[in-house]
Amino acid sequence: MTEVALELKCITKRYPLVLANDCISFDVRWGEVHAVVGENGAGKSTLMKIVYGMVKPDQGEIWVDGKRADIRSPADAIALGIGMVHQHFMLVDVFTVLENVLLGGEPKKGLAIDIDVARRTVAELLEEIGFELDLDARIEDLPVGLQQRVEILKTLYRKARILILDEPTAVLTPQESTELFRFLRSFVARGNAVVFISHKLGEVMEVSDRVTVIRDGRVVGTVETKETSPPELARMMVGREVILTVDKKPAEPGDALLSVEDLWVEEAGKKPRVAGVSFQVRAGEIVGIAGVEGNGQSELVEAITGLRPYRGLIRYQGEIITRPDARRVREHRVSHIPEDRNARGLVLDFPTRDNVILGDHHRQPFTDAMGFFRDPEIDRYAQEVVETFDVRPRSIQLSARHYSGGNAQKIIVGRELSRKPKILIAAQPSRGVDIGAIEFIHQRIVEARDQGMAVLLVSADLNEVMNLSDRILVMFEGKIVGEVRPEETNEEEMGLLMAGVTPSRA
Ligand SMILES: Nc1ncnc2c1ncn2[C@@H]1O[C@H](COP(=O)(O)OP(=O)(O)OP(=O)(O)O)[C@@H](O)[C@H]1O
Ligand SMILES: [Mg+2]
Repeated sequence: MTEVALELKCITKRYPLVLANDCISFDVRWGEVHAVVGENGAGKSTLMKIVYGMVKPDQGEIWVDGKRADIRSPADAIALGIGMVHQHFMLVDVFTVLENVLLGGEPKKGLAIDIDVARRTVAELLEEIGFELDLDARIEDLPVGLQQRVEILKTLYRKARILILDEPTAVLTPQESTELFRFLRSFVARGNAVVFISHKLGEVMEVSDRVTVIRDGRVVGTVETKETSPPELARMMVGREVILTVDKKPAEPGDALLSVEDLWVEEAGKKPRVAGVSFQVRAGEIVGIAGVEGNGQSELVEAITGLRPYRGLIRYQGEIITRPDARRVREHRVSHIPEDRNARGLVLDFPTRDNVILGDHHRQPFTDAMGFFRDPEIDRYAQEVVETFDVRPRSIQLSARHYSGGNAQKIIVGRELSRKPKILIAAQPSRGVDIGAIEFIHQRIVEARDQGMAVLLVSADLNEVMNLSDRILVMFEGKIVGEVRPEETNEEEMGLLMAGVTPSRA
């Protein structure tokens, strides 16, 4: 075995509007976690899709363990011991966890799958990684955080020795990330290799051995982690200094614009997802909901935005919407940045110009009195959104599918803020967004607050909740178990509350 697990030699990939990879070369060693960082659209996912055989490069060579590899499909990559956990999950929603893990790689007993053997193997693997997962849960019933664990499990079940993780922690809580890192370190300690893509520089510092920085499709440099720092990495990525804290003045809350009274979200035969939650969000304040993913936050947001039935009362600017659905709620000037941007945020085959008016397309000024689309108006508006929100590339014709993850998120944030909502429900608003763009999105949200918008922020990123919120509600097992002010709490207290422990203040 050689020292080098994976070597990329001048990988180049051109798309119609961008040179996504411009002769990228670097190597990943056995026994190391190699981080790859760079702004949204820098070309990280494209590069990894090339390594995994999903995208064909125009030029360049991939060497695996000292041998030139001919990777034309994911099957080729898997055969070479390469596994990939994607930025966007690729699971079958209606199948169970076990079925998804086995899909395509089942141990055979004659022609039938030997489910018992498979189940045992997968259960052992779970134990080894230290993940908790119900093998019989259906994917569609799992929050994104848990779905991702299934993805990881799936690659390991296929005996990956080189594991590529494209923003694996975007959906994880700090505790879950810590567990993942522990696993990654033990995985490489056994002589394997990891390629780790992340926008969170703190994590990169914590988990990686070396870091390669990519900007505009090119390698800026590879550095030893212990010889660099987050500010230096940020500078290499963005080409300027980045401010990592939110600058905001104290809130001046006005009337309650969103009020939730004794809200329940239930499903027959299951524990209530939301169990009697009440709170208000007033004009000009940002109320954060913190919690470990899977404690009812997603369901709470879905109820408020008209995507899920509930019991209880929700008032939008004092009004109760009868038979709420997403469109009615939207008409009450409620905007929603959904946590799952592919399922709920964008129509992937629509161009940006259509995605930025989604949900308002049937109204003035986009449709005239006769019900016809006013194309010039739509184009002008779309152009303004992509410019204001720095969507790259600037095209309004490119379909959503072809944007990098962070840029897709900017399209959604741009759409939801540009319609001047009164109430903003923001779920994981900066997930997958690069540090420069997080700074930008946070500023826009604070600005909107200052103009009197009521913001409900739901985020698994404790940093984001602490930085952005004026008040924080902590959710645990469907209930609100605490209210704190960011300036009066700390990560430790928050962590305890999020774990269902009420710290005594005595
Ligand atoms: N299928 C495609 N067709 C056209 N352009 C594409 C396609 N896939 C990617 N691109 C473009 O290639 C560039 C690099 O995208 P990529 O997804 O690799 O970025 P990234 O570094 O992973 O960004 P992020 O941090 O936002 O995930 C982007 O400008 C993107 O719009
Ligand atoms: Mg990406």
